Amino acid sequence: MAFDFDTPLPLRGKHTSKYDNIARAYGFDDPDAIAMWVADMDFKAAPVILDALREEIEFGYCGYFGNTTPVDESLAAWLKDRHGYEIDPSWARYTHGVISGYGDIISAYSEPGDGVIVFSPVYHAFFRQIEAMGRVVVESPLVVENGRFEMDLEGLAGSLKGNERIVTLCSPHNPGGRIWSVEELRAVAAFCAAHDLVLISDEIHMDLTFPGAKFVPTLVAAPEYADRIAILIAASKAFNTAGAETGIAIYPTAEMRARLAPVILDRESSPNRYGMAIIKAAFSGGHAWMDAAQVYLAENFRIFKERMDAIPGVSVMDMDATYLTWVSFEELGMDDAELLKRSVRDAKVISNPGTQFGIGGSGHMRYNIALPRAKLIEALNRLEAAFGDIQ
Ligand SMILES: Cc1ncc(COP(=O)(O)O)c(C=O)c1O
Repeated sequence: MAFDFDTPLPLRGKHTSKYDNIARAYGFDDPDAIAMWVADMDFKAAPVILDALREEIEFGYCGYFGNTTPVDESLAAWLKDRHGYEIDPSWARYTHGVISGYGDIISAYSEPGDGVIVFSPVYHAFFRQIEAMGRVVVESPLVVENGRFEMDLEGLAGSLKGNERIVTLCSPHNPGGRIWSVEELRAVAAFCAAHDLVLISDEIHMDLTFPGAKFVPTLVAAPEYADRIAILIAASKAFNTAGAETGIAIYPTAEMRARLAPVILDRESSPNRYGMAIIKAAFSGGHAWMDAAQVYLAENFRIFKERMDAIPGVSVMDMDATYLTWVSFEELGMDDAELLKRSVRDAKVISNPGTQFGIGGSGHMRYNIALPRAKLIEALNRLEAAFGDIQ
């Protein structure tokens, strides 16, 4: 079956964060602005998901959800088929979005004032959540080696203060779409064991790999450290259903599940009925759509990289996964305000300023390329005009 990623949807005035929050976030908007910031795709959800939601609505019962077993089983089957990742279905817990699950683990494994480590530049909501919970963000700067991010665990070991409790790994990494190797995953897990830290592996982007790239789940790479590894995943990023605010936490040991139980009871009560329908439909019938989306996004990335790299002073980090590109403008020598002005105001292409992502973000912007192809090309035309004057 062919899927349509090309027809643009009229996303303005439809309560879309990506379009309807531009004015609030940037103090600027324009009916022609192209949204390349919020990590949603401009595409409709997979037909199999829309059918499942229609079925729920037609049945008409909107009460509390009970019995997650069929959902757990479709999740376990998906992880095994797509990622060679075998879980017991009873390990899964459903959260109000992945970041809420992140908060659950922080709550269970640290106290206010404790340090939570992140590898920067990284997804900005980690900072918000850590700070909102009264913990301290500890940034371990990623190093760019051969055009790719690498973790500096030696540097991190040397800077530990002793109050750190948790390491946050974003795998694949947002921004920049790095898939960590088995060796890197094992090294970070061993690091956590050596320093008695819990490892939260946020694998929400696991399915958004480009054809030929292989994502390795942290629990597959480093199973012997399962007693200190918690996994966060979702159907939301890969299937474009983030509005259902449903995340999945995988707690692989009984000790961990017992430790999380009171936190979950306090925060989540029962899972979102529509989020459950989405997960079950996506993970039992979403294979063909996902395969097609991967091909489409990989081609979008190829076009985006080729055209952006051709602008003097601009370079796009190579990536294997996600639709969240990391673009360096450092050679242009402009300050961050000027970069943002050129992208947002001049080109009307709404990007995320790199400074949102912590250390290493200055001089960069993040662009979400999950757009219909024609819209992506229009954005590239405008970005070339906005940045092409500097030789
Ligand atoms: C790495 C990562 N984790 C979590 C989230 C957000 O998940 P949720 O909206 O389910 O809290 C995102 C969103 O882009 C993300 O990139």
